Amino acid sequence: MLAMIQIQQIPFPLETARELLASYRSPLYVYQGDRLRQTIDFIRNSIPYPRTKFHFASVTNGNVSLLQIFREGGWGLHANTPGDAFLGLKAGFLPEHIVYSGSNLNSQEMEQMLEWGVTTFNLDSVEQLKLFGKVYRGKFADSPQLKLGFRLNLPELTGESRIGVRPKEFPAAITIAKSFGLKLKGLHFYRGTGTNATEAFTQVIDKVLATCKLLPDWEYLDFGGGFGYAYKRGGAVFDWQKFGEELTRRVEKLDRKIDLIIEPGRAAIASCGSILTAVVSVKWQGEKQEKQIVGVDTTVANLSVRSVHGGDREIVSFKDTKKSPLHQTDVCGNTTYSRDYLGRNCQLPSLQNGDILAILDTGAYGYAMSSHFLHRPRPAEVLLEGGKHRLIRQREGYDILLNNQVFN
Ligand SMILES: Cc1ncc(COP(=O)(O)O)c(C=O)c1O
Repeated sequence: MLAMIQIQQIPFPLETARELLASYRSPLYVYQGDRLRQTIDFIRNSIPYPRTKFHFASVTNGNVSLLQIFREGGWGLHANTPGDAFLGLKAGFLPEHIVYSGSNLNSQEMEQMLEWGVTTFNLDSVEQLKLFGKVYRGKFADSPQLKLGFRLNLPELTGESRIGVRPKEFPAAITIAKSFGLKLKGLHFYRGTGTNATEAFTQVIDKVLATCKLLPDWEYLDFGGGFGYAYKRGGAVFDWQKFGEELTRRVEKLDRKIDLIIEPGRAAIASCGSILTAVVSVKWQGEKQEKQIVGVDTTVANLSVRSVHGGDREIVSFKDTKKSPLHQTDVCGNTTYSRDYLGRNCQLPSLQNGDILAILDTGAYGYAMSSHFLHRPRPAEVLLEGGKHRLIRQREGYDILLNNQVFN
């Protein structure tokens, strides 16, 4: 059982890394299934409130085989977009186990989600409510299980944000909902992604609960999303136990029994993923040739942008660092894009062509944010579990770059 979600030193032994690259080639996303299952249980057990449901925010990782692990762990799915819901359904989630909290759907998308049978919608604005009301009244007015709520906009807690509805808009919104035969039953609070300070969540609980009470038909609170993950050794670590206890204590004091929804993204999946990449070039620079410039066979386009994942991920070699001196090292991607650094000023032993590096904690916002920028096809994805491995997404070939292009 995990005591906390901690970053690891080396994800698995060198022999495993070699075997994986021999089987599937480099670069390669590798997910540790055992570690993922442990994290899923750890987070679930940290909130004792009995009416809590956990929904994995698949914006961070949409691989169906990984979503299935969340389903097996008793979680539902959190959808930011209809695409998230589509992947969730493919992974076998029941539509009523999918919570949508997104922004700016058009009416066709609302209709599609309702047709799929999704029942929980946290809408972003009063205008979205009006649109939803029209779609609902047209075809879906007999959906008995519908749970409708708003994303909450409270600048005093989260700063100015484009997302959500302010409490002063509630009275008019309640009337609008009623005119469509709907009730506003819940609120969705989102602290902002990658928040490692536990107090940033615990200090706002009372205010959020007080705001929920403004809805006469209040039944549920969705508390996000946004729980941080310590990418750097020694950095702040979100304290799930403390958060779970404080939230439970406050919610249990309420004069009604509400349902609690928690939708972690990166906190649940970041730590189980790594990218294996092979060294293809080594140069030494600096006045005394002290700086190592390592070229690897992957690129930032195979991962995600820094602004979302919050900085460079840790990069480790499989060498025994006690035996080999460490050097300041830049790890450079396989394009000439000026920002194609997988890591800067890393401390790594001296490396040779063919050595393997692991870029840690790439389970969240890794593959999900990879792109064809720089026109490099994406890596394969592999699930490693119980000492066995299996392919869960094929490596792309160059043909993918022609997908949907129309030309003579
Ligand atoms: C509404 C909502 N919930 C959950 C998430 C997942 O966030 P995190 O990875 O920070 O937990 C996001 C991310 O965009 C989101 O917008």
